[in-house]
Amino acid sequence: MTQLIDTFGRGHDNLRISVTDRCNIRCFYCMPEENVKFEPREHVLSFEEIERFVRIAAGLGVRKIRITGGEPLVRKDLPTLIRKLSAVPGIEDLALTTNAVLLAAHAQELYDAGLRRINIHLDTLDRARFKKITRRDELHRVLEGIEACRRIGYGPIKINAVAVKNLVEPDIVPLARFGREHGIEIRYIEFMPLDAQGLWLRDKVLSADEMIAMLSREIGPLEEIPDRDPRAPATEYRFTDGIGSVGFIASVTRPFCLNCNRLRLTADGKVRYCLFAIEETDVHGLLRGGAPDEAVADAIRSCVGGKWIGHQINSQQFVPPPRPMYSIGG
Ligand code: 5AD
Ligand code: SF4
Repeated sequence: MTQLIDTFGRGHDNLRISVTDRCNIRCFYCMPEENVKFEPREHVLSFEEIERFVRIAAGLGVRKIRITGGEPLVRKDLPTLIRKLSAVPGIEDLALTTNAVLLAAHAQELYDAGLRRINIHLDTLDRARFKKITRRDELHRVLEGIEACRRIGYGPIKINAVAVKNLVEPDIVPLARFGREHGIEIRYIEFMPLDAQGLWLRDKVLSADEMIAMLSREIGPLEEIPDRDPRAPATEYRFTDGIGSVGFIASVTRPFCLNCNRLRLTADGKVRYCLFAIEETDVHGLLRGGAPDEAVADAIRSCVGGKWIGHQINSQQFVPPPRPMYSIGG
């Protein structure tokens, strides 16, 4: 049982770790095109510091870890970190979110280090739209990365697609068909106000309801999968013909904050209780300054203790977080 229970009774056993804020593509809903302000390298936590944090967090009840970025594969020697973290007592589940540009070259090494679960960020199968969204011409490498994971035997492989209105409508159905063909679950994520340039507007969110309607019309009826873990952010549906399923992370139209079990560690050593949090708790100084484990544990407890009830995207008072997505870590 986790010790990390907030004032709303939510237990926290899930930690997302950003290993770098750098990225090799430039998705417009996350990064500006140029002049991205990255953390100086020497300020980014080392693998040893991350491992120590994870041991302490596991002692408090954290069981699941997801590695994110920026793009985690631009961090050198990532398999070394995977190996270290999968050996931490108490950690039961380790997963990676990647844009897959560098995946084909690293998939085997990561698998050998103990990684089995992978989420790949991909919004479109159309080369021109991929270029428009990411400002890079890398679709072929992403597809090679997916193919490498299938060959090696990763499971499950999931694809995360960010759903931006008046842009990706032509991609919703082809992605689901691709998923059905290859045994991959596509998870559509409603566009959230986390971009670096403040481009988000409510009417740019393509809603889960709209996507469900498109998929049922073009492919076939969907039914919600019963008895899912209520704390999983995605609502999952299966096609009634028995071929494949899709998920929706409907953060805007169906907020799931009341079931949140997640904490985040940024690459520069801040603990956050929410993607949208304004405040954060520093552990960089503690980890680097030789503070005892108990001081780090106290910082984690205090972060959880201060957690709010949830994001206010749908209210007039909403204030976007001071960091964009690439520096928070998805
Ligand atoms: N809105 C919704 N999802 C986003 N992601 C990045 N930026 C946004 C945004 N503004 C997603 C990407 C990535 C995951 C970590 O977060 O799909 O896979
Ligand atoms: Fe990179 Fe991910 Fe941001 Fe896209 S969403 S720019 S892949 S960090």
